[in-house]
Amino acid sequence: MTTYRIAPSILSADFARLGEEVRNVVAAGADIIHFDVMDNHYVPNLTIGPLVCQAIRPHVDVPIDVHLMVKPVDRIIPDFAKAGANIITFHPEASEHVDRSLQLIRDHGCKAGLVFNPHTPLHYLEHVMDKIDMILIMSVNPGFGGQSFIPQALKKIEQARRMIDESGRDIMLEVDGGIKADNIAAAAAAGADTFVAGSAIFGKPDYKAVIDAMRAELAT
Ligand code: DX5
Ligand code: ZN
Repeated sequence: MTTYRIAPSILSADFARLGEEVRNVVAAGADIIHFDVMDNHYVPNLTIGPLVCQAIRPHVDVPIDVHLMVKPVDRIIPDFAKAGANIITFHPEASEHVDRSLQLIRDHGCKAGLVFNPHTPLHYLEHVMDKIDMILIMSVNPGFGGQSFIPQALKKIEQARRMIDESGRDIMLEVDGGIKADNIAAAAAAGADTFVAGSAIFGKPDYKAVIDAMRAELAT
């Protein structure tokens, strides 16, 4: 049986009350905290770095999943590992040496993964599958929360699921962008097991109600 994980993206949280926000969302049933790092270079937005990761670390006991939307990637990896990240993913186009970046993440004791934009082919996975713990399929173009799910992502999730199954490896398949209770089941049917949701959760008054509604969709 598939283990499904809900990973709220703190991009849509109230940053003035971030400790409280992450505690509340974990109490509401979050399995993972998704942490979006944007550099105003690889993507046209600027968010948070290792200092903020370190600040929230003592507030949560679930894994922190750092999604790097930065270029270059290597020099920031050790800092996130020291700040308490558990999973670090990056976009292959943003690294000169994808294999080296994956190894660097693992050498720092974290799980490693690659992120695929809507236009990015999965062939980047071909020779590095043994260094991958997570595949993240973007269902929006990265840079902002609150965008609409791009349905073509479902095909890519299916393709990634096939590659994972063929590899026989234990690899999480995460989907990120526009996930809500009304499309989470379609993403799961395509093969995703880990679901990032930002505005669908933090934009609502009752986090538990939203997470419960998502889980109910996954149970059917
Ligand atoms: C977008 C980020 C997402 C974003 C998701 O670049 O990677 O994690 O916060 O937000 P929603 O769920 O609102 O699309
Ligand atoms: Zn993200």
